Amino acid sequence: MDRLHVLDNVTTCSPPSLGPLVDSFGRVHSNLRISVTDRCNIRCVYCMPESAQFLPRQDLLSFDEIERIVRVAAVLGIDKIRLTGGEPLVRRNLPDLIGRIAGIPGIKDIGLTTNGILLAPMARSLWDAGLRRINVSLDTLSPEKFLELTRRPGLESVIEGIIAAKEAGFDPVKVNAIAIKGTTEDEIVPLARFAREHGLELRFIEYMPLDVVASWERDKVLLASEILERLERDVASLRPTPDQDPRAPAADYDYVDGKGRVGVIASVSRPFCMSCNRIRLTADGKLRNCLFALEETDLRTLLRGGASDSMLTTALRESVSSKWEGHEINTSRFIKPERLMHSIGG
Ligand code: 5AD
Ligand code: SF4
Repeated sequence: MDRLHVLDNVTTCSPPSLGPLVDSFGRVHSNLRISVTDRCNIRCVYCMPESAQFLPRQDLLSFDEIERIVRVAAVLGIDKIRLTGGEPLVRRNLPDLIGRIAGIPGIKDIGLTTNGILLAPMARSLWDAGLRRINVSLDTLSPEKFLELTRRPGLESVIEGIIAAKEAGFDPVKVNAIAIKGTTEDEIVPLARFAREHGLELRFIEYMPLDVVASWERDKVLLASEILERLERDVASLRPTPDQDPRAPAADYDYVDGKGRVGVIASVSRPFCMSCNRIRLTADGKLRNCLFALEETDLRTLLRGGASDSMLTTALRESVSSKWEGHEINTSRFIKPERLMHSIGG
């Protein structure tokens, strides 16, 4: 259905320069994730070394440069933007960038993925700038475990941030928790209960090989199926949420007792690559057509070299059309990308 729609658009409705960003597998790309900084105010052990090397400021795309790329991308059918990091809220004046993106014709939806530490004082201004979706990463409710996982204190600020986001109007506030075997099993049930109590949509993400010290191993992936079993056993019965978008990365479940919803993102055990509609822009202006891409397109050099919109359009198109079928985590061919998670943005 989608594929027919794409081909229809490409062949009959629009000249090639205006058609959607479609790859050789027929996947239409409408979703751009923008990392606005590689810096972070905590140091999650699975994401960053304690002494991370950060980009010099002049290497970051300016707001003008980000806005320009989004304008060009929006003409090509990108309508959904998610701002990521590092930690996006450490980028100064982020609400200003959100306001600019919200004003770009064609952009329908702006989201933010944050660790929540700086969220409480900013929630209102983010909402006022036009942000409507927020995902807060929170892996534990135990202050000791938080310190162990993030190497920094700050659990209370994150919880205050979640509450402030609710009060500012974000509905739902989503919470993402990483699932690592031997590390986060004991967090599943308390997080699920907390989410039910506060009306939050919780999602568990399988641990992916994008870590710092190559400590990822298949045996450390706490499987979505194991998480669901644990929830059924210790929290409440679940049933698949009706009418889900089958292309969405998360599989969502409703609690049968009516008290909320929980999801699992089975990136490793059930890859969703064939319905992927995402591209990514790193903080230093490199376009990645996959989270696990080994090659990037250097948009910053193009921008700073005076490239026209049509040159940027060609660069976006070429990146998308060369996208591979999907990651190969589950095969011996898998090669871990050099970039670490904090400089891709998730
Ligand atoms: N595997 C899965 N998720 C990860 N994140 C960071 N590193 C990994 C990884 N190796 C998640 C964080 C946060 C989001 C930005 O990405 O937990 O929720
Ligand atoms: Fe898309 Fe790559 Fe993620 Fe697969 S691994 S869903 S292709 S970004």
